[in-house]
Amino acid sequence: MRDSAVYRCQECGFAGPKPGTCPDCARTGTFVPLVEERVAPRIGSRRVAPPASAAVPLASITVARGDRLATGIAELDRVLGGGVVRGSLVLIGGDPGIGKSTLLLQASQALAAAAPPVLYVSGEESAAQIKLRADRLGIAPDGVYLVAETDLSLIETQLDQLKPRTLVVDSIQTVYLPELESTPGSVAQVRECGARLMMLAKARGVATFLVGHVTKEGALAGPRVLEHLVDTVLYFEGERHHSYRVLRAVKNRFGSTNELGVFQMGERGLAEVPNPSGFFLAERPKDASGSVITASLEGTRPMLVELQALVAPASFATPRRAVLGADYNRVCLLLAVLEKRSGVPLQSQDVFVNVAGGARVTEPAADLGIVVATASSYMDRPVRGDAVVIGEIGLTGEVRRVTGLEARLKEAAALGFAAAIVPASNLADDIRSGLEVRSVGTVDEALHELLP
Ligand code: TYD
Ligand code: MG
Repeated sequence: MRDSAVYRCQECGFAGPKPGTCPDCARTGTFVPLVEERVAPRIGSRRVAPPASAAVPLASITVARGDRLATGIAELDRVLGGGVVRGSLVLIGGDPGIGKSTLLLQASQALAAAAPPVLYVSGEESAAQIKLRADRLGIAPDGVYLVAETDLSLIETQLDQLKPRTLVVDSIQTVYLPELESTPGSVAQVRECGARLMMLAKARGVATFLVGHVTKEGALAGPRVLEHLVDTVLYFEGERHHSYRVLRAVKNRFGSTNELGVFQMGERGLAEVPNPSGFFLAERPKDASGSVITASLEGTRPMLVELQALVAPASFATPRRAVLGADYNRVCLLLAVLEKRSGVPLQSQDVFVNVAGGARVTEPAADLGIVVATASSYMDRPVRGDAVVIGEIGLTGEVRRVTGLEARLKEAAALGFAAAIVPASNLADDIRSGLEVRSVGTVDEALHELLP
């Protein structure tokens, strides 16, 4: 922070000399005068250095087993890297109403059974509201203690009395330290509370979950600072009008990121979806043009999703492009490749691309599927329904290799698919899948194969 800084952006924590648009995150109206968040007496809790600890050889360090607690929700455990680590701080972010509180209440049950007690601190709902929710979920967990409290120093007192093994703070935006003058949810509060909770978690070996709300722009509200602090950041996402929810690890000091858990929100809370491919393909139309199945690989887990495209003559001079569930710019690039390299005239056509069921594809291996779906809709000819289409596309129209092809093909075979279109450059891999595998080197070859 510069000496001249007198304002702080409440979104990203940037400190600057004047209010207005934040030069760091480009948001406007987020600056707050620093005097408003000044610490009355310096609390400086996390700056208390422990007595100097001696350096030890890495090889001589032993790690105790059993330091992970299972949450009883297999999908959540996998995303965490095999259960939650004692003394770790896990941040779960997501839109309001997506199901964060529900997920953590359900997890509390198994955690309380395995390692009681669990302390659930809610700054958003009263204890009675949470009890009503627990009743609706049909869980009556022993060993789960509720407290509706937002003052972090009082929460600390609760920790002293109850000595929980797991702590849930719902949400980090509602808790505050009275020593700080700024309001709950401000950068200063969120950062200091996060640091204090980190210290508590480490000192007491309490597995701690923090709930964090997400802004319209999709960032964790206010505290991007928190992402650096905590051990694990999970995002809980989904479309409002679809029942399916995805839990994604974006940072994990105790496991792999890009791991994915799939849930379905129903009458009785969140149910795990052990077979997401079947879920996403359940309503697939047979022999319809513009529909292609691809095998995407999120983390270590393959998932079959249906890519849909609709191409129709443009009603205005500038054709429309709309994309749901995939990256807009990437789709525009793919349409340009399809036009230039394969001569499909799209400049007078509106193009709509959708990933069915509210799923989302983020990896380039879905490129070829999107292009084939678009061509299929343009020609109004269906692609054979028993094939999966996999491949990244480059600007010259070449089909490039993808990672984890074997896992993708096995998933397709397990779901009854008979054939796969894969990048030619992947053929060097020794792959046994039981599928009829056709390799293609260019977009043109793929179109010849699938839409002769
Ligand atoms: P919630 O966990 O309160 O979301 P968050 O904590 O992320 O804000 O979930 C609220 C939504 O979930 C609410 O719109 C109702 C819905 N819901 C169900 O559909 N079924 C259920 O059994 C429960 C508990 C909630
Ligand atoms: Mg909630």
